[in-house]
Amino acid sequence: MVSIKTWAYTILVSTAAAATQSYQYSWNNAQIVGGGFIPSVVFSQAQKDLIYLRTDIGGVYRWNTTTSRWNSLSQWVGSDNWNLLGSDALAADPNDASRVYVAAGMYTNSWDTNNGAILSSTNQGNSWQVNPLPFKVGGNDPGRGTGERLAIDPNLGSTLFFGARSGHGLWKSTNYGATWTNVTSLPNTGPYVFDPVYFTDPVGITFVTFDKSSGTSGSATPTVYVGVADNTTSNIYVTKNGGTTWSAVSGQPINGFFPHKGRISSDGYLYISYSNGVGPYDGSNGTLAKYNTATGAWTDINPYPSPYFGYGGLAIDATNPQTIMTVSLNSWWPDAIIFRSTNGGANWTQIWDWTSYPSRSYRYSIDDSASPWLTAPDAVAPEPTIKLGWMIEALEIDPFNSNRIFWGTGATLWGSNNLKNWDSGSTINISVMANGIEETSVLDLLSPPTGTANLYSAVGDIGGFVHTDLTKCPTAAYSSPSFTSTTGMDYAESSPAFMARVGTPSPYVAFTYSSGSSWYAASSVPSAVTGGGMIAAAADGSSVVWSPTGDVVYYSTTTGSSWTAASGIPSGSRIASDRVNGKKYYGYSGSTVYISTNGGATFTKTAATGLPSLTAGTDKAIKAVPGIEGDVWIAGGTGGLFHSVNNGTSFTNMTVVTSAVSVGFGKAAPGLTYPAIYIVGKVNGVNGFFRSDDTGVTWVRINDDQHQYGTANQALTGDPRIYGRVYIGTNGLGAVYGDIAGAVTNSTSTPTTTTVSKTSTTPVSSTSTTTTTTSTTTVSKTTTSKTTTTTTTSATPTSTASCIAKYGQCGGSNWTGATCCVSGSTCSLQNPYYSQCL
Ligand SMILES: *[C@@H]1O[C@H](CO)[C@@H](O)[C@H](O)[C@H]1NC(C)=O
Ligand SMILES: *[C@@H]1O[C@H](CO)[C@@H](O)[C@H](O)[C@H]1NC(C)=O
Ligand SMILES: *[C@@H]1O[C@H](CO)[C@@H](O)[C@H](O)[C@H]1NC(C)=O
Ligand SMILES: *[C@@H]1O[C@H](CO)[C@@H](O)[C@H](O)[C@H]1NC(C)=O
Ligand SMILES: *[C@@H]1O[C@H](CO)[C@@H](O)[C@H](O)[C@H]1NC(C)=O
Ligand SMILES: *[C@@H]1O[C@H](CO)[C@@H](O)[C@H](O)[C@H]1NC(C)=O
Ligand SMILES: *[C@@H]1O[C@H](CO)[C@@H](O)[C@H](O)[C@H]1NC(C)=O
Ligand SMILES: *[C@@H]1O[C@H](CO)[C@@H](O)[C@H](O)[C@H]1NC(C)=O
Ligand SMILES: *[C@@H]1O[C@H](CO)[C@@H](O)[C@H](O)[C@H]1NC(C)=O
Ligand SMILES: *[C@@H]1O[C@H](CO)[C@@H](O)[C@H](O)[C@H]1NC(C)=O
Repeated sequence: MVSIKTWAYTILVSTAAAATQSYQYSWNNAQIVGGGFIPSVVFSQAQKDLIYLRTDIGGVYRWNTTTSRWNSLSQWVGSDNWNLLGSDALAADPNDASRVYVAAGMYTNSWDTNNGAILSSTNQGNSWQVNPLPFKVGGNDPGRGTGERLAIDPNLGSTLFFGARSGHGLWKSTNYGATWTNVTSLPNTGPYVFDPVYFTDPVGITFVTFDKSSGTSGSATPTVYVGVADNTTSNIYVTKNGGTTWSAVSGQPINGFFPHKGRISSDGYLYISYSNGVGPYDGSNGTLAKYNTATGAWTDINPYPSPYFGYGGLAIDATNPQTIMTVSLNSWWPDAIIFRSTNGGANWTQIWDWTSYPSRSYRYSIDDSASPWLTAPDAVAPEPTIKLGWMIEALEIDPFNSNRIFWGTGATLWGSNNLKNWDSGSTINISVMANGIEETSVLDLLSPPTGTANLYSAVGDIGGFVHTDLTKCPTAAYSSPSFTSTTGMDYAESSPAFMARVGTPSPYVAFTYSSGSSWYAASSVPSAVTGGGMIAAAADGSSVVWSPTGDVVYYSTTTGSSWTAASGIPSGSRIASDRVNGKKYYGYSGSTVYISTNGGATFTKTAATGLPSLTAGTDKAIKAVPGIEGDVWIAGGTGGLFHSVNNGTSFTNMTVVTSAVSVGFGKAAPGLTYPAIYIVGKVNGVNGFFRSDDTGVTWVRINDDQHQYGTANQALTGDPRIYGRVYIGTNGLGAVYGDIAGAVTNSTSTPTTTTVSKTSTTPVSSTSTTTTTTSTTTVSKTTTSKTTTTTTTSATPTSTASCIAKYGQCGGSNWTGATCCVSGSTCSLQNPYYSQCL
């Protein structure tokens, strides 16, 4: 060697099959309660209190009548089949309470490359069979609240129809959804296209409704109605022969509207709700019609003269077929209007009426204490602080209980248990019925080392929360300022009551000095900024660095009174603060790592090479370890997981990890000092959530196949106060956290492995790279300063405790365990914080 050793870094790289066994963990959601669109609620007609609902991006749920909570039936969906969390239709067998089906798939456009599937279950959704379809399903596409477009023959449960999107038409299964064939005889496949840029696929069929009375039990029902997304011609079709031939229902209104829901009452009427948009956000006109299936007569029963909204949800009381209800799909101002008729639509009453502006009279009282963040305290009359909702496509009366109604909105599920009070002139009591539904997209998570809350969330669409009690719904979203979507947050590691959050819309950035008790907006924001991006707070709170969207990277030493462009770092870089040195920040863009040692004013490229190039994003792919200056990790997606102990100058590829979509740190294992590391990724070919207690050498899987939560790639942090706990942000299943539960099994990956000894060097001359290894690790280091010749230290046993097994920790700052190693290995200094038996 021609150069002076400055740092020795030895790492074990496990190549053995290992690390894929589960620890026993329990998984729960940090309660937010609701938070997203609920397009449909489906009451079983076969069993009282058996109720399902579907969400657009967060899978399906079943009501648990014991707990009055919803249980997710979709946490088994993993990163490879994430699109199955999109649910475009749900059908519960009306005769066999065990059977339930879901049309699953997220998008029909290029955002989703996977085909959809019909999920079928014979145990009420406890487990599912995935029956692939030869095309995509759009659970988060326009028109997703119409329906249901999947229906089970009420006379012959083996037969189902599914109305596809994209011009694929109507499909039929005669074997309980296992295989499907195209019903090519339907003359109209629903050609309407929502927009010419993103959603260019036809919306397709909007509903499939069997007329049970046309058939007899045990034989296929002959009469079936379908609605299609077409506002230019007939859009209600009927077959009288079980789907062999179809024709447009004669006399139907051609009104420029789309049929959303089609329901048949037990007294023989097909009711249809219409809107001039396919939904769920739109609609400025619409009507309600009823069709007498015996006489063929159509009657317009529009509940509201000259509506400024379309109609979505449509409910028929199973025990009183003349009692029907509908709702404005989107009456944004002052609130939704729910309508009820007890005479088949001849006369209607509204859940509220105008009296003298701005006053209204109400047939209800409403209580959001189960999800108090729904209150909009700044609402000005006649807008209420608690709204009945918007995007209301789901409106259902319990077929076993005329007093119970549920309706889904863009943000929650409401319900009442004394609905019939409406008819007697007294008020109905409405409350949040969404307990157990966790349907948010969580964009960032923080767990500071001190303070009253262990968790802070940054959430899409509803802002985000201080979670002082994970088991309770937070009382309010971040406010003053509030963001619709919070995209990033950080706290000062050594002064954690100081926090910053960024999001949209303007003012884009907010600060707190009180752990989130109160916030204030940055008093200035550079004019080119268009979105929150991500933010990093100096370890001592002396500055913040902000990488917004639409503009360059900035730093501020005045908590947002002024911003100065950071030099030397590209726009859109991911950023992170060193968690010890308040002047130090890291950046990551392309495959280049940047460092600032002056509070973000200037950045310079480090010498690190061989890192993956990530696509732009606001996920925290680069993060520094609390308590150890210069210790940095990169979650490089399919490029792997990378670790630097030298201020980002060089990184080691932790090659046992073949994919790491996120990385975070939590309290060290008992007796250890280096924080526990958590990743969502792939280890030895298995996708999962993993923990390493030994600086990433060995990993244990901590989730199981029933708890995969889709892509789960948005945010991750350990808890610095609770060993074993990790918080993970999902896209549609909320903020989940895992705790060690019960017996802990052994770490499975005793690394029978390659040892990669990496010696970085400080050149006397200007360049040098020395690699004394069996792997491809390349180290190049250009900083010069301190030198040390120490590379390995054999520890002297200082206690009678048993010596540490090979590969275990045997020293480091604050280490209180044994410092001797079992025979055959020696305690080797890795860094000041960690020595390992090698
Ligand atoms: C209802 O919840 C309880 C408590 O979590 C659970 O034990 C029970 O299995 C659930 N019932 C169903 C049908 O899922
Ligand atoms: C299914 O049939 C429809 C006609 O109803 C046709 O337009 C569509 O192309 C067919 N789709 C497939 C995938 O065969
Ligand atoms: C709403 O639709 C009806 C029926 O198509 C039409 O007569 C009416 O003019 C429309 N109202 C508005 C405001 O466009
Ligand atoms: C169909 O609906 C779309 C969306 O509301 C509208 O732009 C279009 O004009 C409508 N077409 C007809 C014929 O009503
Ligand atoms: C109910 O509607 C009918 C027409 O549909 C009307 O004749 C009657 O007066 C209405 N009854 C009430 C109580 O408004
Ligand atoms: C229903 O609401 C009324 C009016 O707000 C209230 O007096 C009553 O206590 C409520 N009942 C229940 C069961 O919550
Ligand atoms: C990291 O940077 C600090 C100064 O910011 C320096 O003291 C330290 O030696 C560096 N560590 C390594 C391993 O280069
Ligand atoms: C890191 O190692 C993994 C093997 O786990 C490999 O697939 C990946 O290509 C490596 N990344 C780089 C940038 O060399
Ligand atoms: C854990 O590993 C130790 C040493 O290999 C072994 O003696 C012990 O039985 C293992 N425990 C479990 C629960 O597998
Ligand atoms: C660890 O040791 C350092 C001194 O090396 C001390 O400042 C720090 O408080 C200790 N941390 C813990 C958690 O004991």
